[in-house]
Amino acid sequence: MINLTIFASGGGSNAEAIIQHFNNHPTIQVNLIISNKTTAGVLDRADRHQIKKRVIDRTDFNDPKKMLGYLKETETGLIVLAGFLWLIPAYLVEAFPNKIINIHPALLPKYGGKGMYGQHIHRAVFENKERESGITIHYVNPKYDEGNIILQARCPLQPDDSPEVIGRKVLALEHRFYPVTVEMVAIQSE
Ligand code: GRF
Repeated sequence: MINLTIFASGGGSNAEAIIQHFNNHPTIQVNLIISNKTTAGVLDRADRHQIKKRVIDRTDFNDPKKMLGYLKETETGLIVLAGFLWLIPAYLVEAFPNKIINIHPALLPKYGGKGMYGQHIHRAVFENKERESGITIHYVNPKYDEGNIILQARCPLQPDDSPEVIGRKVLALEHRFYPVTVEMVAIQSE
């Protein structure tokens, strides 16, 4: 069985799309949700799907022994970031080479890097009058958004698309492509 651990800081709609995708899957399961926010909606989604959850703070996250212990306990085979807002420390990238993936709600390398997350991205895309946006699913390396790209998907934008509309178009791509891409990576990682 390949065990997926999802790291998320927010509402968790991507996490839920992934959980649902692997319901009754013969060889892959989500068996842990980690969040850095006690109030994150993703934790309620974990409960609804009876999935183990763990809330961590900065001290935990900066403690390799503790964090790697959690991941060993659940025999994590692949770490899936789904709206996790903390930079992944080098010890974690080294412990899980090419086994940490992330989704970025834009077409990297544009609209990447510090401060580029959530609505900030869609507002920048809107202000630059881009004719398209999309998603980038990539491996996580110590430089975060600069890991090797696994998949990109695009959506056309209309001139009057607001940042909110752009966000909705991009989120639809995330839900459509992240689960199957996670499955492809997980199978290849065996
Ligand atoms: C998504 O837009 C994702 O691209 C970004 O964080 C957001 C997470 O949304 N990394 P949700 O919590 O999965 O709904």
